[in-house]
Amino acid sequence: MFIDSHCHLNFSAFDEDLDAVVHRAVEAGVDRIIVASVDEESSRKAVELAERTPQIYAAVGIHPQDAQKYAEESIRIFQDWARHPKVVAIGEIGLDYYRDYNPKELQVRVFKRFVRLAKETGLPIIVHNRGADSDVMAVLSDPRFKSVTGVFHCFSSDLSYARNVLQRGYLISFTGIVTFKNSESAAILRELPEEKLMLETDAPLLAPEPHRGKRNEPAFIKFVAEKFAEVKQISLDEIAKITTQNALRLFPKLRNAFD
Ligand code: NI
Repeated sequence: MFIDSHCHLNFSAFDEDLDAVVHRAVEAGVDRIIVASVDEESSRKAVELAERTPQIYAAVGIHPQDAQKYAEESIRIFQDWARHPKVVAIGEIGLDYYRDYNPKELQVRVFKRFVRLAKETGLPIIVHNRGADSDVMAVLSDPRFKSVTGVFHCFSSDLSYARNVLQRGYLISFTGIVTFKNSESAAILRELPEEKLMLETDAPLLAPEPHRGKRNEPAFIKFVAEKFAEVKQISLDEIAKITTQNALRLFPKLRNAFD
């Protein structure tokens, strides 16, 4: 059994055939899917999907590229969602200096606000970090946020940063990028302990080989898992078991809601 720890079934790419997509995921052994959000609208949709689909769980938050949409009065709705039994995390939140859509100060302010929400609600965070290694770490190193835990999703930094992330108690997840030729992710993956890793698709983006360039979906998690197994030289079953345990440990509500 697999857990897709991060995808966006709340995006319009799935409007036409969501049920079929979930069905294919179940057929492929994916029994839990975390739908991550980028703004208030996608958060609402993630919660709705979680309410009507047993396999789906939600993460709510505002992506750095959507930081301009944040308004302090809207935090209340996120606080309400955080109490929902199927809302398992705050995310995706973080900093993205690669595309530079929003001023850094604004991104940092919104990121901090949602880390604070995570602290207040006891939920883990799903971190998006693109080209902002030191600023992301600066926010998370704030002593006020010591109790906060989470995952660095779609990890794209270097090995020394990965070690720093693990040392802070965070997990790391990789997408289909690990299956790409010339990807540096596989070399980093090789060096990291299995008990700190999770699988994700980030669907509809980043489809793994052999579907690269097409719409991604949670059923394709098996290609990511196969690459993990190859790189770590352990069986696919073992990868499924370990990454599932890691996800259940990080996201306690994922466990409770299912039992
Ligand atoms: Ni994502």
